[in-house]
Amino acid sequence: MKSKVCVIGLGYVGLPLAVELSKSYEVFGCDANKSKVQSINDGKDPTGELSENQKQYLPNICFSDSLTNLPDSEFYIVCVPTPVADDKRPSLDYVESASLAISKKLKRGNIVVYESTVYPGATEEVCVPLLEKESGLVLNEDFGVGYSPERINPSDKNNTLRTIKKIVSASDSVTLDRVAALYESVVDAGLYRASSIKVAEAAKALENTQRDVNIALINEMAILFERLEIDTTSVIQAAESKWNFLPFKPGLVGGHCIGVDPYYLIHKANVHNFGLSVVEAAREVNEGIISFISNKVIELCLSKNVDLRNARCLFYGAAFKEDCNDVRNSKALELADKINRLGIDVDIFDPLIDQEDFKSEASSKLNYLVEIEALYDIIILAVPHARFKDMDSKDIKVNLKEESVFIDLKSVYGREDSDYRL
Ligand SMILES: NC(=O)c1ccc[n+]([C@@H]2O[C@H](COP(=O)([O-])OP(=O)(O)OC[C@H]3O[C@@H](n4cnc5c(N)ncnc54)[C@H](O)[C@@H]3O)[C@@H](O)[C@H]2O)c1
Repeated sequence: MKSKVCVIGLGYVGLPLAVELSKSYEVFGCDANKSKVQSINDGKDPTGELSENQKQYLPNICFSDSLTNLPDSEFYIVCVPTPVADDKRPSLDYVESASLAISKKLKRGNIVVYESTVYPGATEEVCVPLLEKESGLVLNEDFGVGYSPERINPSDKNNTLRTIKKIVSASDSVTLDRVAALYESVVDAGLYRASSIKVAEAAKALENTQRDVNIALINEMAILFERLEIDTTSVIQAAESKWNFLPFKPGLVGGHCIGVDPYYLIHKANVHNFGLSVVEAAREVNEGIISFISNKVIELCLSKNVDLRNARCLFYGAAFKEDCNDVRNSKALELADKINRLGIDVDIFDPLIDQEDFKSEASSKLNYLVEIEALYDIIILAVPHARFKDMDSKDIKVNLKEESVFIDLKSVYGREDSDYRL
């Protein structure tokens, strides 16, 4: 008989995991979002991450939106969101409610694995007490806990659950062996056994914080080079000729990983009376890019006699990153909103984004376009999906008025093709 595994949270992390596990285990998938479960049950993939082959496994999984009575399972794997609140403090509400739901079903011999990104210590300090309290069971006597951070990169078809080495960790060595055996069935690239849950939690937070800091450095340089009238892309290309230069690109840092996880580390450091000055400065620089670009729009419009009060602006792309349909915490949308607040009409053209998702995330003053028909004073190539990159710059600029501004935020085209590229 196959072991039973219950995956809780069926988003970008949980759904592909449930599918891969279903090739070797009896899998249950639970999600608090009724309409998401309905659509997965209809064979649809709300994340756009599953291949056609993977979608064929969906009927083998038993999906449910009932969290009050989770199925009896040997393993419970938690893949729920870990966002930050408005004050940028970690919000562990989803992880806590998933832990409470599991605690009601937890039995001797079960293992609970957390995949959600958290600060070091959260699994043992926040989740384990919740699991123990309701179940009356004791960690490492009655049940085990694991932590295995996910490293997928939405829209990346090469680096996937199967092909990325995965960190596993657990509350004791017996649990670690069982957790490793579970993940060995879905990860071809191999596992890294971290020495403790805290090490695994810290490693994940560090990976994403390192990216944030590196991008912040390049963003800061991009602002400097603009003042010095030097093209940043050309500088990066020149610097790349050195063997150990890391070619990070400037840009907007959105989504729910790189722009969020550093706040988890900042919080934990603050609890321990330590300020992460480099990490905090990086967050400030990356958040500040939105104001930098909107100021650039004003400056360019003034210099080209574009009447800001009657201007129309078109965004090409608004997902949080290229070739992805996820619009949550999209900095392109934040930029669009900031430009709209200047009194400029803003249309968004992004065929990858579902119109309903757009409505729930974007300001109601931004317009979702199905087709581009008008002429614009400003066009911003904000998120260059592959289909936009395939276009010649002329095909984008065909919708510009005579006196107008074209910004190529991710430097897709040559320096002379746009009025500004970051
Ligand atoms: N998306 C990524 O690229 C990525 C990569 C690595 C790690 N992570 C981390 O993995 C975690 C999940 O990320 P995601 O992108 O898959 O999130 P997601 O928002 O796409 O999916 C999470 C799902 O959990 C559901 N949910 C929320 N609370 C629940 C509950 N109590 N019980 C059951 N379901 C619940 C939501 O409805 C949602 O469908 C986060 O901690 C994230 O930081 C994400």
